[in-house]
Amino acid sequence: MDKNFYITTPIYYPSAKPHMGHAYSSIIADFFARFKKIDGYDVYFLTGTDEHGLKIQRAAEKKGIDTLLFCNKISKTFQELTKTLNLSNTDFIRTTEERHKSSVEYLWKILEKNEEIYLSKYSGWYSVSDEAFYSEDEIEEIDGIKQSISSKSSVEWIDEESYFFRLSKWEKPLLEYYKKNPQFISPTSRKNEVISFVKSGLKDLSVSRKSFSWGIKVPNNKDHIIYVWLDALTNYLSALNYPDTKDRNFKKFWPASIHLIGKDILRFHAVYWPAFLLAANIPLPDKVYGHGWILSGEEKMSKSKGNILDPIEIINKYGLDPLRYYLIKEVSFGNDGNISQERLEDCINSDLANNFGNLCQRITTFALNNCNGKIPTNFDFNVDDIKLLDRFKTNLNLIREKIDNQDVNFYIDFIISSLFEANKYFNDQEPWKKKNDPLRLNTIVFTTLEVVRKISFMLYPIIPESSLKALKIFDISEADIEFSSLENHEYLRKKDSINKINILFKKVEKNND
Ligand code: MSP
Repeated sequence: MDKNFYITTPIYYPSAKPHMGHAYSSIIADFFARFKKIDGYDVYFLTGTDEHGLKIQRAAEKKGIDTLLFCNKISKTFQELTKTLNLSNTDFIRTTEERHKSSVEYLWKILEKNEEIYLSKYSGWYSVSDEAFYSEDEIEEIDGIKQSISSKSSVEWIDEESYFFRLSKWEKPLLEYYKKNPQFISPTSRKNEVISFVKSGLKDLSVSRKSFSWGIKVPNNKDHIIYVWLDALTNYLSALNYPDTKDRNFKKFWPASIHLIGKDILRFHAVYWPAFLLAANIPLPDKVYGHGWILSGEEKMSKSKGNILDPIEIINKYGLDPLRYYLIKEVSFGNDGNISQERLEDCINSDLANNFGNLCQRITTFALNNCNGKIPTNFDFNVDDIKLLDRFKTNLNLIREKIDNQDVNFYIDFIISSLFEANKYFNDQEPWKKKNDPLRLNTIVFTTLEVVRKISFMLYPIIPESSLKALKIFDISEADIEFSSLENHEYLRKKDSINKINILFKKVEKNND
């Protein structure tokens, strides 16, 4: 079986600098990408910026800057964020790139050739902020202003000539597809939302605009700009050099394994995107996963609400890995989560500094003082040792399965309980009382070091930098990390010295007032 894994984040609007919600989608995607990489997969991890459409054109106009210059500037902050967040992305796509434009034009032509597109007139509501069309029953009026009920963003009336995609035709095939591929939309609650939306009846979709210029032109009618979502969704193909279906990356990585998105853009990914692909005879991605929102107060963060949390500020204060750990652990994956500095500080002090950092320090200091700084080579496991080591071996396939079901909570709970067991083991075994029994002392040291090694491997997708720092104890480098080696209880036999490492996590002084 080919072990290829293609994961994507949404491509972000460069209308303002990145916030915590963007960081969240990217960090979660990085977690899956890194896990698959250490599990022997060839991984393509794509992120990028979605630069066309009226939303961006207006944002640039407001600043009085040329639209492309504006995009260049803000897209750069998203590119820098990939470094700041230590993302392992393979590619960063911008929809203003030529490679993307040619893919979109090609897809349009295929849809036109397949008679999936026709020219007519659109009269209806449009939200520039969401770049979405809304029907009458999806909007409400508050204080004289019409807005979308779901996103609360204001809508404006549009009356113009437009190309339409025959979305209505795909209503039944989509419902059949969801039924045959129950994992296609996840989690289940989101799937149900989508199914009831599709069942309520799909209307043909307006896929071009005439009243502004910032976008990709319709190939045979330059008065029209291709709808920004049709343009943006195609990024998942254009990064793999579509339409060159003989391209190595396209052959290897399409269809995508998972499009990871926020629940706000589910309709575009789980209805429009598969319909476009079906209409163009292109295979569908395996899965669309709609995660929850990071809330600030009780609300979704957004520029218009002025409640933006800046990831850079948090990173400057606490460091990157604490933020990654916190977001992955504390926001129950799939649901909304509130970000709280207090909980973040608790995570640093208890999970990272006490449970993990402390264990690494204790065992290395003990081994340096009692085993001549070497990893013991003579040991003899008893049932207690085997029990601790075996929890990894026996759960290996279960962990893989949970990851394939995006059960991030299981993964992190497994690490936390393993840390608890490892600390308990070291305390209960009292190696400091075994100085007259070198075989037992060596065995306890070896077992604890093995468990630290295994846990550090598992922590790599979550907190890569700290995991690599911990693995310096054994001179293990990034390329050596293999998930399957968690089965091996004697991995460290091939290693030699133990290195002292610096404190991994500094505790945060907490204000108790
Ligand atoms: N450009 C479109 C996506 C096109 S994909 C072909 C877009 N961009 S966005 O910048 O507005 O937001 C993209 C994604 O950022 C959301 O889907 C979500 O994944 C993430 N988040 C934005 N705000 C968020 C929160 N407050 N919380 C969690 N994630 C959210 O939509």
